[in-house]
Amino acid sequence: MYIESLVLKNFRNYADERFEFSDGVNVITGMNAQGKTNCAEAVFYLCTGYSPRAARDKQVIRYGQDKAYVSGNAKTAYGSVNVELTFYPDKKNIRINGVETLKMGELLGNINSVFFNPEELKLIKESPEDRRRFLDISLSQMNKKYFYALQKYKKILSQRNTLLKDENKDLIRETLPVWDAQLVKYAAIVIKERNEFLRLLSPFAAEAHRFITENREELEISAGYRYGGDENEIARQLLSDLAESTEKSIALGYTTIGPHRDDLRIKINGEEVKIYGSQGQQRTAALSMKLAELEVFNTRFHEYPVLLLDDALSELDCSRRARVLERAEGIQTIITCTETDDEAFTNRKFTRFSVCAGKIEKRE
Ligand SMILES: Nc1ncnc2c1ncn2[C@@H]1O[C@H](COP(=O)(O)OP(=O)(O)OP(=O)(O)O)[C@@H](O)[C@H]1O
Ligand SMILES: [Mg+2]
Repeated sequence: MYIESLVLKNFRNYADERFEFSDGVNVITGMNAQGKTNCAEAVFYLCTGYSPRAARDKQVIRYGQDKAYVSGNAKTAYGSVNVELTFYPDKKNIRINGVETLKMGELLGNINSVFFNPEELKLIKESPEDRRRFLDISLSQMNKKYFYALQKYKKILSQRNTLLKDENKDLIRETLPVWDAQLVKYAAIVIKERNEFLRLLSPFAAEAHRFITENREELEISAGYRYGGDENEIARQLLSDLAESTEKSIALGYTTIGPHRDDLRIKINGEEVKIYGSQGQQRTAALSMKLAELEVFNTRFHEYPVLLLDDALSELDCSRRARVLERAEGIQTIITCTETDDEAFTNRKFTRFSVCAGKIEKRE
């Protein structure tokens, strides 16, 4: 799939601009603080409804304005699609092909993207929450069932946690099983989908990592939990673990096990990257996971999502950079960077935009 055009009105530092992208490599250059990341952010919003910066929606409204608007036209294997988002201080409106929808889930899966920038190193280095975010964003784009199950799971979990803080411990013990029967139903869907995703992702990530490191490193990704089998089997295992952890959960006042506590194990040549990996290895591992995500999309939908590389190449050495670009062959790629007179780009066809203070200065 590819995005043909992107319209930004009062979005961040853009007053009113239109990008006409090519279906190949698009390079957005400009000095610092000119609007390169803002453009990539807008694309990611159209795909997921979220900012990749963990920013609040209302922050995208241009200073002094009362609303922001983003619209994207995309061509996919299943037809053309238009997605529009209007941001108000207290809400955002979604329109798909001109029809307003109130459900976030309706937005997902129309235009898909994989986003990578230097901050994505968090995926390797930081907390389990960052790795779950990777799974959740990726899986929610691929599968609405996952998105809705996760929403339900979080809601029930929060009610369960409120109950766990109740003064009346006997009431907790009596009521928990009722909540748990519901909780495991949605947890099982989430875990099953995560397992399936990892089963597809791991070999692609290993392959991408070998490709970037010229076979010097072996990347392994696995789930940090042991739940397996079909949904019923997972639900049974989790239900029994929840029952076992009841007293601990009551003492702590929150739910100690389940998909909200899951983590991934990421190793290079047998050692955990988070602990032993160099900066470069961690960055490459994160990038390999994102490149693998592209392949998982392609396996499932027979087309690639849009690849957003925000300032991602500057951090790689020249040969790794060239290899990443080689990977992007045949995939619409939107790259932001501060310069393009770089060996990795020579002899490559690409569409170039240069942005300055929220204006597209030229297109070539
Ligand atoms: N709501 C907003 N209204 C107006 N301007 C904003 C808003 N939010 C952010 N900006 C401005 O947008 C500018 C450009 O931000 P952006 O992150 O896109 O820069 P960039 O070109 O990616 O720079 P860098 O090379 O440093 O990453 C910043 O100067 C910021 O102050
Ligand atoms: Mg930037």
